[in-house]
Amino acid sequence: MKSAATSVSTIVTLGLLAALYVEAKTVIPVNDVQAVRVDLNLSHVARRVDERFLSVAIDASLIAEEKFMNLLNSPKLRTLAKALIPAFLRFGGTKQDFMKFNPRGRYFQARDNSSGAVLGKLCERLELPPLLENRLKQEWVLHSKTLLQEELEGKCKKTQFSEYAVDLLYAFANCSGLDLIFGLNALLRTSENTWDSANAELLLKYCESKEYIMSWELGNEPNSYEKKAGIRVDGYQLGQDFVHLHQILQESTLYHSTGLYGPDVSQPRDHRKDLLTGFLETGAKAITACTWHHYYVNGRDTSLEDFLDPEVLDTLATKINEVLEIVESVSPGKKVWLGETSSAYGGGAVGLSDTFVAGFMWLDKLGLAAKLGLDVVIRQVLIGSGTYHLVDDNLDPLPDYWLSLLYKRLVGPEVLKAQVPMNSGPKKPIRVYLHCTNKKSTYYRPGAVTLFALNLNKNEVTISLPAHIDKSTIEAFVLQSAEEGSLYSRSVKLNGQVLKMVDDRTLPPLKGHELPPGEHIKLPGFSFAFYVLIEAQAPVCK
Ligand SMILES: *[C@@H]1O[C@H](CO)[C@@H](O)[C@H](O)[C@H]1NC(C)=O
Ligand SMILES: *[C@@H]1O[C@H](CO)[C@@H](O)[C@H](O)[C@H]1NC(C)=O
Ligand SMILES: *[C@@H]1O[C@H](CO)[C@@H](O)[C@H](O)[C@H]1NC(C)=O
Repeated sequence: MKSAATSVSTIVTLGLLAALYVEAKTVIPVNDVQAVRVDLNLSHVARRVDERFLSVAIDASLIAEEKFMNLLNSPKLRTLAKALIPAFLRFGGTKQDFMKFNPRGRYFQARDNSSGAVLGKLCERLELPPLLENRLKQEWVLHSKTLLQEELEGKCKKTQFSEYAVDLLYAFANCSGLDLIFGLNALLRTSENTWDSANAELLLKYCESKEYIMSWELGNEPNSYEKKAGIRVDGYQLGQDFVHLHQILQESTLYHSTGLYGPDVSQPRDHRKDLLTGFLETGAKAITACTWHHYYVNGRDTSLEDFLDPEVLDTLATKINEVLEIVESVSPGKKVWLGETSSAYGGGAVGLSDTFVAGFMWLDKLGLAAKLGLDVVIRQVLIGSGTYHLVDDNLDPLPDYWLSLLYKRLVGPEVLKAQVPMNSGPKKPIRVYLHCTNKKSTYYRPGAVTLFALNLNKNEVTISLPAHIDKSTIEAFVLQSAEEGSLYSRSVKLNGQVLKMVDDRTLPPLKGHELPPGEHIKLPGFSFAFYVLIEAQAPVCK
């Protein structure tokens, strides 16, 4: 202890301040409050993720009845989506492999002949009138329950969609500023069990004619095609199907260098590893990034304890490392994405996935995925069936939406190292992650860093930072359940204030709470927080 303190003062007097890694003095617990120290390395960027790291998905089940696609014209949903950019918008899921494009032609002759280039002006005109929005929302609540039930029973019905649905989807993405990824149906197969591209080509031609700038996927969780559709597609064949799609894209003037992502396999388990390996052997050259899906738990068989269990949270690290190992061995250097991910599979865990407690899994996933080397994480879902959505049935933001918004504002793509030394602190270790502060956030000076921390314990924890940082002004953004004593709230408090939209077009200011210099950070029990160290002056964050 003594030598650590001495080395701190030596370094400080040497004036090496921010550029160095300094150990904070160990703090003795006062009263019941546990104390931990956190080590930060501000001199080295461990890795850099995509600017769109936190991205969102719309489940393809929304297209099952086209009229529900009109929900995407809700001004409220647009406002919420816009605040999350830059981000990808993935349109996919189980239903994507049961969908066929059925162009009708008549909509566009009758309606308008706008191309993507003039869409900008149309964004305002496309807004959904409030009465219609309310009716659609009510109907969607009932309809989405039916859809989820069908999916859980493995009875996915085949559906068709027209240009109208594609236009609504693209308008939503483009008007919000999200980069659209469209998931094509891989279960359209020839008698030789190769992918039948005819329907996809029809859709591509249509999108091209409208100058829709977008990227593509092919198939969703091919590892369970046998269960879902009685068709078995091995990795080797799927890779060839991707090469085929890649060739088609290359011939297009608009899509020749667009993104193609896949194979959207479920997390590694038994034969899924073979599928991924086989896929990469034949298909890696066709894809821009390798995608896989992750859920911590089964939505019908989980509990609050799982959401707060470090062992459950750590299972993600194991899975990430397994996938990275496969990708590194077959196609080294290929980017890896969590192409679809949330807390619990089977549509989420009722009463958990849409409440405050889901934030522990979501924030820890964002932290771990960036730290271990994933490039993009696509959250299932912005809107769609199930309970893991970011907005509720009234399209009002849920706690994970607010968490995502804060993450976007405060966390930049540069990942730095932070750790809690072993054997310090409370029973469940505080989980910490460190990034440069988002440089696009104009409130902070260059060199600022953002530490985010999760306290899975009931009691408050005091966090002490390395000595030189200790004197930096800190802006704290502490998120807690809006209901005292319950983590099941569908609302969240930021620094004590419940977060709500001001109106359908206005988000509230997200105000930090400035801690006096030198004051220790106090992270309440069962909460998580972002701390912007405004004066960190990390050279790598300038
Ligand atoms: C910070 O991290 C870099 C890269 O791992 C390492 O070279 C450097 O020594 C670290 N700084 C300290 C003081 O540990
Ligand atoms: C659609 O295109 C036709 C022919 O190019 C043009 O005359 C018409 O004004 C266009 N309609 C709209 C709504 O832009
Ligand atoms: C929206 O459409 C315009 C016009 O085609 C295009 O320039 C822009 O890149 C698009 N933005 C997104 C996010 O798709």
